[in-house]
Amino acid sequence: MPPVTRRRAMAGALASLVASAPRSGLAAAPPPALKDLAAAKGLLYGSCIQVGEIEANDALTALMAAECNCIVPETALAWNAGLESFYEGKLDFADADVVTGFARQHALPMRGHFLLWYQGVPDWFKALPDAARVEAAIVRFITTMCTRLKGSVFCWEVVNEPLNLKDGRPDGLRRAVFLDTLGPDYIDLAHHVVRATDSKARLVVNDYGFDYDTPEQNKKRDALLRLLERMKKAGTPLDTLGVQAHLRTGGIPMSQSKLRKFFDEVVGMGLDIHITELDVTDERTPPLVVARDQLVADEYRRFLDVALDQEAVNVVVTWGLTDRHSWINGEDGKPLFRPTDRQPYRPLPYDAALKRKPAWYALARAFETARPRKPVLAFPPQPSAP
Ligand code: XIL
Repeated sequence: MPPVTRRRAMAGALASLVASAPRSGLAAAPPPALKDLAAAKGLLYGSCIQVGEIEANDALTALMAAECNCIVPETALAWNAGLESFYEGKLDFADADVVTGFARQHALPMRGHFLLWYQGVPDWFKALPDAARVEAAIVRFITTMCTRLKGSVFCWEVVNEPLNLKDGRPDGLRRAVFLDTLGPDYIDLAHHVVRATDSKARLVVNDYGFDYDTPEQNKKRDALLRLLERMKKAGTPLDTLGVQAHLRTGGIPMSQSKLRKFFDEVVGMGLDIHITELDVTDERTPPLVVARDQLVADEYRRFLDVALDQEAVNVVVTWGLTDRHSWINGEDGKPLFRPTDRQPYRPLPYDAALKRKPAWYALARAFETARPRKPVLAFPPQPSAP
């Protein structure tokens, strides 16, 4: 029998807490934090965060720091949102600095979300007249970002959502400004510029729509594998696949064996995997909150059972921590509701009153039952001196 190490003993204690928490009425010991359950297995667990959520400095801000050992700027690094709204050439890093400061303060490794996204470019960029200007702008933007954030982010999503099968190209690539002006090699160009500027950052291709057993998603997984293969063959620097994992309830078929094979094939190419934007849109469910929350948790579990069984999955990020703020419930001033009953969605581990939901327990249990793995960061950041 292997010796009982301190870590193992702690994991055992956490296990019994997690197992008993949802059922027992005893509120003696608070449940462990997701970050501790994750860390015990070599995993990073985190959430995206908005600048406003940091500046509020309230219970939600504290909850983020208490639950997460990884953080992702939700929009602070977006070329057209956090950084630059008005005119060419002036990047404003004020928002980025707030998130970086929070990450430093709490010693949270930060993911770089994202450099190039078709929805994330300023209008002046879209209006550039020729390929040479587009390429120059991309190179300048990436170089500026990667220089500024060197040492602050441990990975970069270099191209976010490069695929869109609906555009009808045989390679499945998305027809957007980058591809239309530079052709498919814009992806390789961007990766080379990142590597040349920040040699330590892990380079990620990030996309959605790989989770379910539908004809569309089956094709999308194939297209992604072909893209990764092509990049590897071309010698393009690439370390990681980012699987967004925006899940939905409603009985969309999920084939755990197809998902498993997909993860295996990605890892077979020498990549590791980050789950980057996990959440569950509770659609086509009965109106009763208890039932909805259970169906959401079941969907988390179904997906995480497979994802965490793959030891190369070393990061799990949910796209928000509480239902108080989720992109699924719309942006400020433009709330979105379930069409069936006009209720807000309940996609995340905590409800809007910061109470743990069954989805929290699904995550806790998934971390707790996962096999230990090699952490993505050999030397995670340490808290800075006050
Ligand atoms: C969303 C953010 O959550 C919103 O706040 C923003 O207005 C739009 O983008 N895939 C992505 C994320 O890669 O950047 C998106 O996030 C959600 C879908």
